[in-house]
Amino acid sequence: MRIAVIGGNGQLGEDVAAAFAAEGDEVISLIHEDVEVSSKESVARSLDNIRPEIVVNTAAFHHVEKCESEPAGAFAANAMGARNVAQASRSLGATLFHISTDYVFDGLKQSPYTEQDPAMPLNVYGNSKLAGEYFVRAENPRHFVVRVSGLYGSHPCRAKGNLNFVELMLKLSRERDELRVVNDEFVTPTPTVEVARQLVVLSRTTDYGLYHATSEGSCSWYEFAKAIFELSGTKVKLQPAGPGEFPAKVARPKYSVLENAALKRNGRNVFEHWRKGLEQYLLRDRKPAVSHA
Ligand SMILES: NC(=O)c1ccc[n+]([C@@H]2O[C@H](COP(=O)([O-])OP(=O)(O)OC[C@H]3O[C@@H](n4cnc5c(N)ncnc54)[C@H](OP(=O)(O)O)[C@@H]3O)[C@@H](O)[C@H]2O)c1
Repeated sequence: MRIAVIGGNGQLGEDVAAAFAAEGDEVISLIHEDVEVSSKESVARSLDNIRPEIVVNTAAFHHVEKCESEPAGAFAANAMGARNVAQASRSLGATLFHISTDYVFDGLKQSPYTEQDPAMPLNVYGNSKLAGEYFVRAENPRHFVVRVSGLYGSHPCRAKGNLNFVELMLKLSRERDELRVVNDEFVTPTPTVEVARQLVVLSRTTDYGLYHATSEGSCSWYEFAKAIFELSGTKVKLQPAGPGEFPAKVARPKYSVLENAALKRNGRNVFEHWRKGLEQYLLRDRKPAVSHA
């Protein structure tokens, strides 16, 4: 099959492109210079040239603080951009994978969110991504809307200063004697390689719809940092930060753990426990260039 990956040089896009290519699919990776998702014409032109059977849209404006101060930009990329990609893919008869986020929830539930739970975003980023989901559902019936969370992978996250959380912790452990990390925000850290594998599995089906797609289990950022240091054999004094020690500039869900209910119902869930995923990242996926050893 011919696959167009939008955001192809992003943290997730790189692994998605590699996962489809490994299955023998023809992958065309589109970077920001090739396509501007907020422009209907740019999206139509670039996809018309390729005529893909599957489009994977990983592009987003997802720096949470910047989205809050630039809501028009956030909605242009995350909502209208999603609509443009959905319309263009539909007119080509292509299936669309649209990547969304755990930040569509407010975090008050305190138990894992399923696809059935009502979304209630707390900030501009979450609202713009939720609007994007609705546009995709309305514009292309052959869609997979895939909500992911706490991504990290061997390619840098372009929107977040090029360091994922694992690399940031390892860097800080080399620079400081003691680290303090928030212990009251719960997520499921998820390796991008596993999300990519999940998209390939879904792409061989016509089980269109909304999916939660994260690793199994959950942890606070402090617990994640603790596991990073344990599994990498890093010696550093790590303490849980006190409440209010790192006040968030923008409201964020304190608990955004997702349950892969739809994937499990269909027998298609590929995800490992987050700790196993972390182990594999540290042992197998990290780029030598960013190795701390
Ligand atoms: N990272 C996380 O922890 C996380 C958590 C939940 C959900 N997500 C979602 O996962 C997806 C992938 O995230 P990621 O971590 O791979 O992000 P990333 O590394 O920042 O990659 C995003 C890609 O999209 C491109 N892009 C940004 N704005 C664009 C636009 N207007 N038109 C065309 N291309 C554009 C970027 O190019 P430039 O950098 O050149 O602009 C980059 O190639 C996003 O949809 C995000 O909302 C991420």
